Amino acid sequence: MEKGREDKKMGYSLLFNPENYRVESVEAEGHTVVYRAYEDLVYVERPVAEEYQRMNIYVPELLMEGGTIGRYDRHTAPVFLANTVGGYMPGKPEKPGNHFMGKTNALFFALQHGCVAVSVGARGRGLTGADGSNIGCAPACIVDLKAAVRYLKYNRERICGNMSRIISNGTSAGGALSALLGVTGNHPDYESYLDAAGAAEAGDDIYAVSCYCPITNLEHGDMAYEWEFNGLHDYRYMRFDKDAETGEMKRQPVTGTQTEEQKKLSAELKKLFPSYVNSLHLTDERGNDLILEEDGNGSFQQYIKDRIMESIQKAMEGGMDFTGCPWIQIRDGKAVDVDFAQFTAFRTRMKTTPAFDDVWLQTPENELFGTDGIASRHFTRFSLEHTKAEGEMAEEGQIRRMNPMNYIGDSHCDTAPCFRIRHGASDRDTSLAVSALLAAALKKQGIQVDYHLPWGLPHAGDYDLPELFAWIDRICNV
Ligand code: DHB
Repeated sequence: MEKGREDKKMGYSLLFNPENYRVESVEAEGHTVVYRAYEDLVYVERPVAEEYQRMNIYVPELLMEGGTIGRYDRHTAPVFLANTVGGYMPGKPEKPGNHFMGKTNALFFALQHGCVAVSVGARGRGLTGADGSNIGCAPACIVDLKAAVRYLKYNRERICGNMSRIISNGTSAGGALSALLGVTGNHPDYESYLDAAGAAEAGDDIYAVSCYCPITNLEHGDMAYEWEFNGLHDYRYMRFDKDAETGEMKRQPVTGTQTEEQKKLSAELKKLFPSYVNSLHLTDERGNDLILEEDGNGSFQQYIKDRIMESIQKAMEGGMDFTGCPWIQIRDGKAVDVDFAQFTAFRTRMKTTPAFDDVWLQTPENELFGTDGIASRHFTRFSLEHTKAEGEMAEEGQIRRMNPMNYIGDSHCDTAPCFRIRHGASDRDTSLAVSALLAAALKKQGIQVDYHLPWGLPHAGDYDLPELFAWIDRICNV
């Protein structure tokens, strides 16, 4: 029988073969890296979307030859695990070199830095099986990332690198998954899904998380968005459409004004946010409570303003001039206050209300919470009650498994001890409160969190790779 067929019938082998590689090289940033490429490794025994449930592992050739790069050798090299999920859609593993936007990707930097670089694919929303049923709804994407970690750990003696130093990286939906992966290490909630997929018998806890602009905490994203953007009625975003003739992606600006009904929903959602924030009982570094008053003001807002001022301060030190921004108060070369409402007006609104759980079930997140037979569902009681599409509610367990906030501090998790969270200060895809709550909740558990809102950056990721790898060096050399 043909080899591939035999594999499929028996289930895929999860044993990594160290001899099955090609030596390749790639040039970027004026440097060439030579590496061993182990590609298209299916990481579960029983994949349902084999094209996505696979990963590529790249190892610097120099390490394999017994050399060192920086402080790392073949045994101590950190394992940089980059997921390729965007928009909660399925992602396929990538290669080191150029990112699809033309910039050098993080995998290249990882290899150049002496890390083992792993690019992992995963199932996502919109994926259908041969019978037309949906096979990528939540929690498929996080189950796949966990299975990939298990594969790496199961093969720790056969793959180069230190599997106790796995660092996950992702942006946006991929950033949310990166955080979720790091928080929920070994939690039994995911076990039955991992069993069904045929994941390797090993742990799925990791050492560190890097996440850019995580679109996370979805069930509270709508209220956070309106806490921030309520009162801004005009919205503006870029739509990407595929040209029917050329197949090219075309950017189309969309602008509009919220309807009276959306304005009403916005006011109602905004009102719900303080009690959610207060229920988390968070504190800042000095132990002060982070709370919101009923009107939306309070120490949690100040916490975000302080992060924005840090961001402005850093930008000023880099030579940026803020004299044209009357809503930033600068005294003796230091940012001392920002007007939060004017700062938000400067950023502008991107999404209509509700931002994530759409009353018409039209968002990516509605599709994420579908089932094999239902395309899209609600995941908040608020939007269920306001549904215009006779939408159904997703099961509590499906929603719970997608939100790291539900697991922070849970004694059944082996949570990563180090997090790096970056959320561009100009991001409008989700509220800055979402990443701020994640950072504060992690810090409360004694987890080391490096949190920053880089000035001027929109919804984006991997824009500060030299700093990211300097952070990796710091946390790996303790
Ligand atoms: C992404 C962006 C969004 O605005 C969203 O709602 C979900 C995902 C993304 O870029 O991955």
